[in-house]
Amino acid sequence: MSTAHFSADWLQQREPFDAAARSSAAGPLHLDAFVEAVRPEPGRPWRVVDLACGMGANLRWLAPRLGGEQQWLVVDHDADLLRRWPAHFQQPTRALERPLRWTAVGCDVSVVRQQTDLMTGLEALPWAAADVVTASALLDLVGLPWLQRLAGAAAQHRTPLLMALNVDGRHIWSLQDPADAKVGRLFARHQARDKGMGRALGAAAIPALQSTLQALGYRVHTAVSDWYLDGRTDPGALQLQRALIAGMASAAMEQDRRCIDQVMGWRKRRWALADQTVLRVGHLDLCALPS
Ligand SMILES: C[S@@+](CC[C@H](N)C(=O)[O-])C[C@H]1O[C@@H](n2cnc3c(N)ncnc32)[C@H](O)[C@@H]1O
Repeated sequence: MSTAHFSADWLQQREPFDAAARSSAAGPLHLDAFVEAVRPEPGRPWRVVDLACGMGANLRWLAPRLGGEQQWLVVDHDADLLRRWPAHFQQPTRALERPLRWTAVGCDVSVVRQQTDLMTGLEALPWAAADVVTASALLDLVGLPWLQRLAGAAAQHRTPLLMALNVDGRHIWSLQDPADAKVGRLFARHQARDKGMGRALGAAAIPALQSTLQALGYRVHTAVSDWYLDGRTDPGALQLQRALIAGMASAAMEQDRRCIDQVMGWRKRRWALADQTVLRVGHLDLCALPS
C-alpha cells in the first residue's frame, strides 16, 4: 500500500524549476542524440510511457523536444492528480477514460491517463511498444528490488529509458547555518522510509540504476540537473525554498523527536534567511540506450 502522495500545489510550485534544471542538463546529457537514436520511423507517431506522471510536468517539458505526433500513456496511482490534467491543458473537464489532446509548438500529443500502482503494475505496461519509457522525480521513492524490476523490464524489451530529476542528496546553501548538516542527515534517513515501493533509495537511486543498466548492456549518460532557488530575486524560488525548509524540518523532527528543539531553531533561522539565500538542490538526469 503506497503512502507516496504529493499535493497539486507542490507539483505546480516546482514545475518551472524542474523545467529550468532539465533544460540546463539537456546538453551534457546529449539529449538531442538520445532523441535521434530513439525516434520512430517516419510516418509513425512517438509512443511514450510516463511513469508516476503526476499532473504532466514531464510531458510538458519533453513532448515539444520530441516534436511531431505523439501518443503518451501516462500512469500514476493518484487518480486525483490524473483528474487535474485537463485543467492544466486548459481543456474541458473529461473523465479519466477519455483521452486528452495537447498541441504545442511543433507537437501534437494524445494522452491516455491510467491509474496504476507501479508496485504491482510495472511489468504490465506496454514496454515492447514504447519508443521511450520516462519518469521525472520518481526514483528517490523506490527501493532496489523495484529499480531492478524497472531495468529488467526495459532490458527484456530493449526499451530506452529517460529518468529526469532524481535527487542526489546535495543541498548547497549560499549562507551557512550550524544545523544544516544535522538536519540534512535526519532528512536523508527519513527519505529512506518505505513509501510503498520498498525501502526508498533516495540519493542512491541513480548510481544503482546506472550500474544495473550497464550490467544489462545499456549505454548510460547522466547529467546534473540542479535546482537554483534564488530567494533574493525570485518570489517563486523563495516560496519553493520555504516549502523545502518546512518539509525538511518536519521530516527531520519525525525522524528523531529528541532533536525537535534543534530542528525548530534551524527552521526559524532558515525561514528568516531565505530571502537572502540561494539554495542549490542536487539532481541527476539519466538516459539509457540498449546496445
Ligand atoms: C514527486 S511526484 C512527480 C510527479 C511528476 N512526474 C512530476 O515530475 O511532476 C512523484 C509521483 O509519483 C507518484 N507515485 C508514487 N508512488 C507511486 C506508485 N506506487 N505508483 C504510481 N505512482 C506513484 C505520485 O502520485 C506522484 O505523482
